Order: sequence, then structure tokens, then C-alpha cells
Amino acid sequence: MNNIILVGFMGTGKSAVGRLLSRRLNRPFLDLDEQIAKEAGRSIPEIFASEGEAGFRKRESDAVAWSSGLKNYLIATGGGVMLDEGNVQRLKKSGVLICLSARPDIIVQRTLSTLPSRPLLSNGPDPREKVEELLNLRAPFYALADRTVDTSDRSVEQVVEEILKEIEEWKFEKR
Ligand code: S3P
Repeated sequence: MNNIILVGFMGTGKSAVGRLLSRRLNRPFLDLDEQIAKEAGRSIPEIFASEGEAGFRKRESDAVAWSSGLKNYLIATGGGVMLDEGNVQRLKKSGVLICLSARPDIIVQRTLSTLPSRPLLSNGPDPREKVEELLNLRAPFYALADRTVDTSDRSVEQVVEEILKEIEEWKFEKR
């Protein structure tokens, strides 16, 4: 199997799951948002503040284009990566897409403590409403992933175990 790419909404656990899963699978890990911030020499909120969302999305698409040349990586993406058709095409070509999902109340609970680092949620008056609105808008894009794993009432370890099982099944199906 080529790259394993984690997609899904903010607060669904992509980075934490990605890090542990990469260790369990002995694959190198790439966090796309970290890569974008490194390239820019600025944090994600700073990029949003100085270049707007459009500037960030351009950087994100560039990072997707670059990362789809990697082989056998575990890649965690930012929550908006699936909104761009070109990104989806590139990611699908480079590996298997696993979408992490969670209930809105869980997402709000998980993201509240790190709100300033999430400009899309922190810029408006009501983060809860924003989460619901964005989840509804994005549902059809997340549905393009190959598999979806609900992380709502599970620890990072439990989610990793479930994905490892799914991977074994895929290998079996391919035989
Ligand atoms: C975004 C999610 C963030 C980050 C940026 C935009 C989004 O990543 O890429 O703030 O559009 O959902 P996380 O999903 O890791 O929070």
C-alpha cells in the first residue's frame, strides 16, 4: 500500500492518530499543516491573518502537490484539504484516504482549548454554530474518502487499533 492519508474535520484527531499510527506501521509521518507553517516561516493563524484563507489554500494545494510525490508515508492533512478537487485527485492517486469523523459536540469540546490556533473557528462569534455550519457544508467532500472512522468516544489508541484492522482487511481483499 502506498501513502496512508488522514483527512477530516478539525478536532477529529488526525495529527494525534497519525503520529501513533505512523509508529505502529513504521512509516515516516508528515503533518501537512506543520509543513505549510515551516515553509512559510509562520504559524497557520499568522498565514490566515496576513494572506487570508485564499493565501493559505494556495499554500495547502502546493503542499499537497509536493507531498503526493512521497511514498509509503503516513500523512495527516488539514480539515479543509478535501474542498479542492485538484487536492482530492492528487491525494487519491498517492494513496488511500481515511476520514476521521466525530460528533459536533465532541469537536467543540476538543477544539475549544486550542481555538486561537484554528482561525476558521475563532474568527466568528460562536464556534459551536461555526462547527455545525462547516460540518454540513463539508460532509459531501469528506464522503469522498475511501473509509471513515468515527473517533467520538474513543481514545487515540483505540482509533489506531481500528485503522490497523481495516488495513489488514484491505491487504486481504487485495490478495
Ligand atoms: C482548517 C483546518 C486546520 C488548518 C486550517 C484550516 C480547515 O487544520 O488546516 O486552520 O479548513 O478545516 P486541522 O484540521 O488540523 O485543525
